[in-house]
Amino acid sequence: MRVTKQQLFDLMKNKLVKAGLNEDAAADVSDVLTFADHRGIHSHGAVRVEYYSERIAKGGITAHPNYHFEQTGPSTAVFEGDNGPGHQAAKQAMEKAIAMAKENGVAVVGVKNISHSGALGYFVEMAAAENMVGLSMCQSDPMVVPFGGTEPYFGTNPIAFSAPTNDDRIVTFDMATTVQAWGKVLDARAKHLAIPDTWAVNANGEPTTDSRDVHALVPVAGPKGYGLMMMVDILSGSLLGVPHGVHVSSMYKDLTKGRDLGQLHIVINPAYFTDLTQFKKQMTTMLDELKAQPAAEGYGEIFYPGERGRLRSEKYDKEGIEIVDDIYDYLISEDVHYDRYHGKNRFTE
Ligand code: NAI
Repeated sequence: MRVTKQQLFDLMKNKLVKAGLNEDAAADVSDVLTFADHRGIHSHGAVRVEYYSERIAKGGITAHPNYHFEQTGPSTAVFEGDNGPGHQAAKQAMEKAIAMAKENGVAVVGVKNISHSGALGYFVEMAAAENMVGLSMCQSDPMVVPFGGTEPYFGTNPIAFSAPTNDDRIVTFDMATTVQAWGKVLDARAKHLAIPDTWAVNANGEPTTDSRDVHALVPVAGPKGYGLMMMVDILSGSLLGVPHGVHVSSMYKDLTKGRDLGQLHIVINPAYFTDLTQFKKQMTTMLDELKAQPAAEGYGEIFYPGERGRLRSEKYDKEGIEIVDDIYDYLISEDVHYDRYHGKNRFTE
């Protein structure tokens, strides 16, 4: 089914209001989810609405949170999320971070005790839209072995980075620190396909190509990705006093409880380091030079980070955003959720 951006936003917002969120919160969450689907990051868009709705209905996302923002130093602050919708808390915290970086050159804002916040590219692009450089990282539930291990310890702990250019392009690098997302394993399972031996390990910690035999995912680039996901966990978890590593709450185990997740935004105001116009011009030059680089056989052309998402957005603006029929049927239905997620073991899906 193809829908316009506005139709998708409205459908998701209505559902989240029905689940218990107020209009503002439902709009903020839907905006982040629409961003994801519109960029082709379908793993973090409408597909999540039923899960969020079940969690809201069961009390595991605070429907009417008491957010609390405290500036702890000239450039530092903590945003207490009261286990409200992570998308909204992270968005509001980024707004504060941008305002602080405008004032003081840099802002480091911790967002603590929140629920899942979706595709991090959304938040860093807020900074780039204000001529700032944005960085964001967050914890997610443990499903990745430490390099050389057999049991999951860290989450897929994503990092996103965004910077403005002197034209309408924005550089957005936004990645999980795992080789592949769990959704891709599920997709292979559903289609009875093998997976590359670089994605995941079995219960012995050995690389597996059997999508049904996956026990855990692996970090991107071996020990280097392992170090990166640890860094994300420290900066967005331990630094904010929320649970770390294997103690991070599971996405599905108990939908009646808040997830207590952490996220960290860093916003840098280029104008405090160099001439802003010069910086943006240099970014444009960099992208132009990259686009002019020769492509190796089979690659067609060089893309800058975030470019493929923008191309998908342009295509979707013309043709509509493609949404799986089952998800569309759920969104237009009167049902809030189907009790499918509470207690689910994601590895046995
Ligand atoms: P991905 O693997 O699709 O893309 C990673 C990065 O590589 C992107 O910046 C993309 O623009 C760039 N890229 C991809 N192909 C490229 C090419 N040919 N040339 C140049 N650049 C290219 O992303 P991934 O790792 O699957 O993450 C998807 C989303 O999931 C992200 O938005 C991330 O924030 C989100 N996520 C959120 C989590 C959470 O708990 N909130 C947990 C894990 C991921």
